[in-house]
Parts: sequence; structure tokens; C-alpha cells
Amino acid sequence: MRNRQGINRREFMQRTTAMGLAVGASDLAFAEEPRSVNDKINVGMIGVGARAHELLQAIQAASGAEIVGVCDAYKGRLERAAERTSGRARIYPDYREILADKRIDTVFIATPDHWHKTMAIEALEAGKDVYIEKPLTYAIEEGPAIIAAVRKTNRILQVGSQGISTKIQHKAKEVIQSGKLGQVTMIRASYNRNSASGAWIYPIPPDASPQTVDWEKFLGSAPKRPYDPARFFRWRCYWDYSGGNSTDLFVHLMTTIHFLMNAKAPQTTVANGALYRWKDSRDVPDTINAILEYPEGFMVTLSSTFNNQGTSEGGFQILGTEGSLILGDSTLTFQPENIHEDNRWIVESWPRALEEAYYKDPKVRKTELPSSWEPRVNQGMERWEQEGKESTLQHVEHFFDCVRTRKQPVEDALTGHRAAAVAHLVNLSYKQKKMVHWDFAKETVKT
Ligand SMILES: NC(=O)c1ccc[n+]([C@@H]2O[C@H](COP(=O)([O-])OP(=O)(O)OC[C@H]3O[C@@H](n4cnc5c(N)ncnc54)[C@H](O)[C@@H]3O)[C@@H](O)[C@H]2O)c1
Repeated sequence: MRNRQGINRREFMQRTTAMGLAVGASDLAFAEEPRSVNDKINVGMIGVGARAHELLQAIQAASGAEIVGVCDAYKGRLERAAERTSGRARIYPDYREILADKRIDTVFIATPDHWHKTMAIEALEAGKDVYIEKPLTYAIEEGPAIIAAVRKTNRILQVGSQGISTKIQHKAKEVIQSGKLGQVTMIRASYNRNSASGAWIYPIPPDASPQTVDWEKFLGSAPKRPYDPARFFRWRCYWDYSGGNSTDLFVHLMTTIHFLMNAKAPQTTVANGALYRWKDSRDVPDTINAILEYPEGFMVTLSSTFNNQGTSEGGFQILGTEGSLILGDSTLTFQPENIHEDNRWIVESWPRALEEAYYKDPKVRKTELPSSWEPRVNQGMERWEQEGKESTLQHVEHFFDCVRTRKQPVEDALTGHRAAAVAHLVNLSYKQKKMVHWDFAKETVKT
């Protein structure tokens, strides 16, 4: 990657260090020229757990990138990563060694949430472009620090809610922004599951032990505890490392809603939740509902249960005066509102002469005639199917495109912060049992 003076970052660091110049964090910003699509992007992967193995395969499917280094806190995951890369990815004992390796331009961070901020900021300050899994943050106040680090270092950072890169979500946005739905005042979004694996009770590999798992590495800044494989492999179930359903699932919903509506954050959030079913496995709730109000003039209801999946895992209903848009994982349906005024049951109780006069009134005849009383089922309905590549591959390709062109991605640090912040606001409201407010100037919760 070359800057305007024709030297790349590595050479710059070497020259300044050789000249005895101290390069402070504030000197890290680089104005970079776009790079050629033929330039290979060398990737280091920080955390190669379940999600990272999906990312790894997407990186391999995308052209022009190579995974040159991996690190993890469980030996089994490293073995599988070595196998999937045919031994080409070097195994690093610690993520800081990946950051120190000047061959590596770009890192993918897919560790538990409590590690995200530290790893993201250290990676940016080491000069790496960063793909980081959602949620960007473990706590609201971490967001502005990550955004500041992206700006200071002039790096690319993309957050990993892959739905935002799909054609179906772009189509949904186009339909909403065209005005076809009329005035949208309500969005209902849900994410539900009804299985142990859906509730994050994942199988623990039989070889897991303090010899194969680096427990201290996993804990990081989290409260000290003795080795516990359930916490290591099912970390989403515990507040120490995760925000439960909100940060795991609502964050995907909110990334999409903010994208569709060009919205920043809710002015108010109120939530309630409970742990009804999976009591022995967690300290986060398994059922949570929230109501958000946006200054643009609409409300969102968010709902998640691990007790029933209904007909699908969930999705969105975007409700306007002229129609509804139903967005699922791979389908989008527009259903026009078949509005008809029908006051028969009211005027039938009036004196007969007044009822007859009512239907002779030209104003009434415009809106209320027997022809409008006929149901118009499915008239004007439109439907679109997802097309193109799988969502994670599309998201990874978008990221590589941004790395090459030096344009910030659609799901940049600010976008990722705001989506994660809603999840944290939901949890704050649930824990504090009160409505919480967003401070738009400070990009954080109002205190
Ligand atoms: N975008 C999506 O659809 C999607 C899907 C699943 C998970 N995720 C996100 O991906 C991230 C990882 O989730 P997962 O399901 O893969 O969890 P996981 O437990 O399977 O993987 C996390 C990995 O991080 C490793 N790790 C922990 N501490 C480490 C450290 N200090 N250094 C290096 N490695 C360390 C662990 O050993 C583990 O292998 C989470 O942020 C999660 O929210 C996103």
C-alpha cells in the first residue's frame, strides 16, 4: 500500500525509526492512494472460532486475498484453520504478534465481544485495516473510542453484520426511500429460536481442557474465574463477555433498520426481559422485548425469544400508510394497503332518512361505496427473491473493495457503534427498569 510520496507504510515506519524519530499514535494517519485490484491483501485472523471459519472460507472464495496468519485461544480451532489453509497460514501464539507482523495488511477479528474494543484499537494503531465481527462493542462507551481511532489512523474498518451487503436489503431500502409505503411510523422486527444450539448451548469439543484451552487469554479484562469450558465455548450466555440476545441478534436487526430508514439512533428506549426457559445455562435473559422511538417519526419494536420460532427465525415488517414491506432473510414482499372506509355499522343505527342522506353526500360517495367494500386480497402485491452471492461473501468482498479503494464501508465504525448502542440501550433499560435516552451530540447514552 503506497502513500502519495510513493513509500508504503512499512517503509515509512522503518525510515522514521531508523532516523530515531518517535512515531506517536497521533502521527499514524496516512493519506493513501487506492491500490490495484491485483495487489494481494494479506490477512491475519484474530480468533478462528465458529464464525471465523465461515469468514475464512469467504476470504478464500473472494479473489485477491490470502490468509497468512491465525491465532486463537483453543488448539482445536487452530488445527482446523491450518487444515483449511493447507498449512499456509502461520499460527501465532498471540494476536499482538499478528499485529506486529508487517506482512499483514488486514485483520479479521472474530473473538468474544469483551475483546473487540482492545483488539480493534490496537490493530488500527498497528496500521491494519480491520474487519470486526458484530457487535462492534461490548459496552456503549467503547464506540466513540473506536471511531476516533479509525479517524486518527486513517484505516478502513468494517463491522460484520453481513445482511447490509445483500441485494435484498438494498432493494428494501430503495422501495422505502421511493415513498411507496407512504408514511412509515412502525417497524416490527424479531429474531426467535427454539433449540439448544439456537440458544447458544453449543457442543463442547471432547478434547477441551486447560491444556488445549488458554483460559487466561480468553478472559482478558473479564472478571477472573477458574477454567470453565461452558463459559469458554458458550460465552454469549454470560454478561461478563456478551450482552445476550440484544448484542447477538438485535444488533443485526438494528444495522438493517438504520440502513433502511437512514436513521441514526432512537431518542428513547424502553425494554423488558426475563429468563424463563434456559435457566441452568446462563445469566442473560432468553426473552426480551423493546420499544424504540426515533426522532424521524417512527417507532421500532424489537422482540426475541428462545422459546418459539414460529414460521421463521424472524425478520422485519415495515408498516406505512400505503403498504407494508415484509423483509426476511431471502425474500421481500410489498403488500399495498387496501384501505376502505366502511361506516355501515355506524350509520345503520341512525334514523333511516339520515342514513339515506349520508350515502347521497358526494363527499361520502368518493370514499364509501359498495365497490370499495369488496375485499381486494393480494391486489398489487410484489415479491422479490434474494439473488447473487451468499451474504458473508458479499460483505467480505465489499470490505476488500474498500481496502483497495480506501473508501469507508457502508457498515463503518459509526454505523457499527450505533447499531450496537441500541442493543446496549435495550440491556440498560432492562437492567435499570426505566426508559433510557440517547445523547445525539455525544453519541452515547444520556446520563
Ligand atoms: N455475523 C454473523 O452472522 C455472526 C455469526 C456468529 C458470530 N458472530 C460474531 O463473531 C464473534 C465470534 O463468535 P463465534 O460464534 O465465532 O464464537 P467462538 O467462541 O466460536 O469463537 C471465538 C474464538 O475466539 C477465540 N479467542 C478468545 N479470546 C481470544 C484471544 N484473546 N486471542 C485470540 N483468540 C481468542 C476463542 O478461542 C474462540 O475460538 C462474536 O463477536 C460474534 O458475535 C457473528
